[in-house]
Amino acid sequence: MANKDELQKGSSGWREFIWNPRTHEFLGRTASSWGLVLSFYLVFYVFLAGMFVFTMYVMLLTLDDFTPTIQERLVTPGLMIRPKGEQLDLSFSPVNTESWIDYVQNLDAFLEPYNDNYQAQTNDDCVPDQFFIQEDSGEVRNHPKRSCQFNRTVLEECSGLQDRSYGYQSGQPCVLIKLNRVIGMLPGKEGLSPYISCGAKREDGDKIGQLVYFPPNAAFNLMYYPYYGKKAQVNYTQPLVAVKFVNVTVNQDLAVECVVVSNTLTPGGERDKFAGRVSFKLRVSGQ
Ligand SMILES: *[C@@H]1O[C@H](CO)[C@@H](O)[C@H](O)[C@H]1NC(C)=O
Ligand SMILES: *[C@@H]1O[C@H](CO)[C@@H](O)[C@H](O)[C@H]1NC(C)=O
Ligand SMILES: *[C@@H]1O[C@H](CO)[C@@H](O)[C@H](O)[C@H]1NC(C)=O
Repeated sequence: MANKDELQKGSSGWREFIWNPRTHEFLGRTASSWGLVLSFYLVFYVFLAGMFVFTMYVMLLTLDDFTPTIQERLVTPGLMIRPKGEQLDLSFSPVNTESWIDYVQNLDAFLEPYNDNYQAQTNDDCVPDQFFIQEDSGEVRNHPKRSCQFNRTVLEECSGLQDRSYGYQSGQPCVLIKLNRVIGMLPGKEGLSPYISCGAKREDGDKIGQLVYFPPNAAFNLMYYPYYGKKAQVNYTQPLVAVKFVNVTVNQDLAVECVVVSNTLTPGGERDKFAGRVSFKLRVSGQ
């Protein structure tokens, strides 16, 4: 029987822990003690939520839809080429269509928005050799901002309009070069536009042969700058320079480097070897 008594005592101990009628304690605390604990946590969580909402609000206040809050202060933007594959490596054999058809399709797709009639529809015929400034005046935003026409025909032999293979079929390939966009950049002064200069990187100097540029001055005209960002300047068309390798030595890996020359941009040194330049491999195979 002692066993049963102890069991009863144990279970009444539990019952008293849950609700003790003598001390009026629930789970070991009185009502006012519970009230204090709960109100402490209530105040604590409301305070945390308030902090979160306030921080988000302040953060959002400082954001502007039209200009990035953080923009890496690049001294000189990089260059990029088209056609672009996995690597910057253009290797093909003129007689083997399959070896270059991807390059041609890549260029066709890239140059689609440069068609003259499309440019005439979307963009302005601007005054060349000067910046196309469209600043906001105070709180009044001057947008949508207009952009300048860059006609595909400017690329002449490298436009893909007369020579549908951009020279790849005849072993005189065209490569398009663009300067990466940087919002607000003014890449030149005194009416002098930045221009592209390409050459052999190593001692392949004579092997890359003669280069022909389109437009002939190889320049990115100042009228395409400054760029105001994707959202403010919806129809912006990046200016291009085409370089055509007209007498390249066949069956040779050639390291080509193109740099931008400007009176305000300086190519990066050892610290940033991509600033203002691009390197790629070119190999034209003979029979
Ligand atoms: C581009 O082409 C269109 C249509 O041929 C022409 O009206 C316009 O003047 C050209 N723009 C430039 C900047 O050459
Ligand atoms: C952008 O191009 C469209 C036509 O495609 C034109 O209707 C619109 O006005 C252009 N916007 C600006 C800001 O130039
Ligand atoms: C093409 O380059 C070769 C040397 O690689 C040279 O002998 C030849 O004269 C060049 N032809 C032209 C038209 O420049």
